[in-house]
Amino acid sequence: MVFIAGTPGVGKTSVGKHLARTLKAKFLDLPEYVKQEKLYIGYDKVSRAYIVDERRLKKRLSSLLELVEEDIVIATHLLVPLNKSGVRVIVLRLNPLALLSRLKRRNYTRNKLVENVEAEFLGVTYHEAVELYGARRVRQINTTGLDIGKTVRKCMLIIRNKSKGDYVDWMRSLRGEELDKLLKTFASLR
Ligand SMILES: Nc1ncnc2c1ncn2[C@@H]1O[C@H](COP(=O)(O)OP(=O)(O)O)[C@@H](O)[C@H]1O
Ligand SMILES: [Mg+2]
Repeated sequence: MVFIAGTPGVGKTSVGKHLARTLKAKFLDLPEYVKQEKLYIGYDKVSRAYIVDERRLKKRLSSLLELVEEDIVIATHLLVPLNKSGVRVIVLRLNPLALLSRLKRRNYTRNKLVENVEAEFLGVTYHEAVELYGARRVRQINTTGLDIGKTVRKCMLIIRNKSKGDYVDWMRSLRGEELDKLLKTFASLR
């Protein structure tokens, strides 16, 4: 099974669906699943998001994975600790400025916008994934400037052990003017 993880807006759902088709695997979009199965404890009006019942989600997901025979691709912004061998995590990354303009097209609140772009800048999901699953199981893809098809091909190379993915660290790699622009945007949105 493969988790396609990352900050909201990086392309998990789009890439995950395509990848599952390529692999002839089952596809599960975790936020959809949480809603469908009512695996939340409430709705946070301020952040306009469901508060996931992580304990129940973990239980449900574990039993689901026991049941499905075929491969499964799971798109998620939330990482669930599972004691299952063969779990791999591919974290999709996107230049924070590109993410910012993509998220501006969704009707996000200013807070949510800053929160997500900041999380991408810092690599929050990647670090969480490494903490949960260990660095060997976690790979990253820099999707900046790539279309969905190219991103899926990169996923395939990782799954077939022909690639170790990309090294992504925006704190190191953003150019001076990009960093300036990002910080100014943060300041203006707060
Ligand atoms: N390389 C890419 N990979 C994934 N999505 C992309 C890419 N380039 C552009 N997009 C677009 O960005 C959006 C990503 O949305 P989505 O897949 O819902 O992200 P997420 O599930 O991570 O929130 C889609 O509208 C998609 O068409
Ligand atoms: Mg999604």
